[in-house]
Amino acid sequence: MPGMEVYGTEERKEVNDVLDTGALFRYGHDEIRKGMWKSKEFEAEVANYTGAKYAHAVSSGSTAVATLLAVAGIGLGDEIIVPPFTFVAPIEAAFLAGALPIFAEIDETLCLSPEGIEAALTPKTKAVLLVHMLGTAADIDGIMEVCAKHNLILIEDCGQAMGAFWQGKSVGLFGKVGSFSFDYFKITTCGEGGVIITNDLDIYNKIDQVADHGHTHEGNNRGMEPHHIMGFNYRISELSAAVGLAQMRKIGEVKANNQKNKVYLKNRLKEIPQLEFRAKVDIEGDSAATLNFFLPTADLAVKVIEQFSAVGISGAAYWFKNQYHFINQWDHIKNLSFPAKLGVHYFGAPQDYKNLQLPKSQDVMSRLVSLGIRATWNQEELEILGDKMVNAIKKVIG
Ligand SMILES: Cc1ncc(COP(=O)(O)O)c(C=O)c1O
Repeated sequence: MPGMEVYGTEERKEVNDVLDTGALFRYGHDEIRKGMWKSKEFEAEVANYTGAKYAHAVSSGSTAVATLLAVAGIGLGDEIIVPPFTFVAPIEAAFLAGALPIFAEIDETLCLSPEGIEAALTPKTKAVLLVHMLGTAADIDGIMEVCAKHNLILIEDCGQAMGAFWQGKSVGLFGKVGSFSFDYFKITTCGEGGVIITNDLDIYNKIDQVADHGHTHEGNNRGMEPHHIMGFNYRISELSAAVGLAQMRKIGEVKANNQKNKVYLKNRLKEIPQLEFRAKVDIEGDSAATLNFFLPTADLAVKVIEQFSAVGISGAAYWFKNQYHFINQWDHIKNLSFPAKLGVHYFGAPQDYKNLQLPKSQDVMSRLVSLGIRATWNQEELEILGDKMVNAIKKVIG
């Protein structure tokens, strides 16, 4: 979780700028803000780092995904392909938008696979909500090909993938629009926040308006701005943006350290021939936020996790059993439980959610062990950790 690891004086300085002026709101109030526009600066940093033409900050990665769907035209009754392995936010966002999520298979990339998407298509499928999991880009080439072939809108939830690039291009720029989360657990954090990126001016204008009750942000009289479309309050506060700004200035260094530490640990694990690693990783583009490997069986994966815990290795995850990241634990979703009527209640589910057959995803996830990489490990800590991991795995595998 490098974002929180590297929090320090730079973040405090940016926040104090805002506290000193009291200009907590991102729009207007020019007379008190002493020329400081933290949200705008934060967006400029994200645009500069990702290479996006436009970036817009919002209150969270979740509201960012809600915005993505709206501006991509995904709404009531629209079928949209989603993965069974993801933080649950994009699935919730799809349901809350009135859309009808269709779960497709992931593969050893830990993201939707092109074959999985193709197998799940129906004549009504409108879009693919691709989630780049655990800091690394999905199989972009294959997925773009399928989307082009079937005329599907590609939307990218890069909530976990700030810093991830595919052949030199940032995630979030392959489809119509993409978004990042800056919550407390991410590689760049501002406590709570999100950023949406796009190269399309028309889409950007819609994002700007949807995220602020339709405000067009023209002129200097907020109450008299024209409004063409409806929106809602997904705004970020200047305080959060100030932290995000400082964090974005650190991502290059964080990513470089992550990569160095990940390469070391991965090389150590290569001593164990029974392990396989996440597929199709663009090593240079990897944010290296996590190291992911597969055991030959689910039973061995569980035992490795138990052994890691027994020897005091922290930051290891068995996502297969996680309540919020894997479909097996999503009874609330399969039961379509929500206090109000959603599109899916009206139209009916596009799949039998309670009897979904996703054998590839089950196999991949049940054998997966993940480790969060820290940017601040020193060489000695790394070596101790490498020894512990190798010994723990060897003890389990025999
Ligand atoms: C892939 C993905 N999308 C969206 C989100 C939601 O982000 P937030 O927690 O900032 O609302 C997350 C958060 O973990 C995520 O992992």
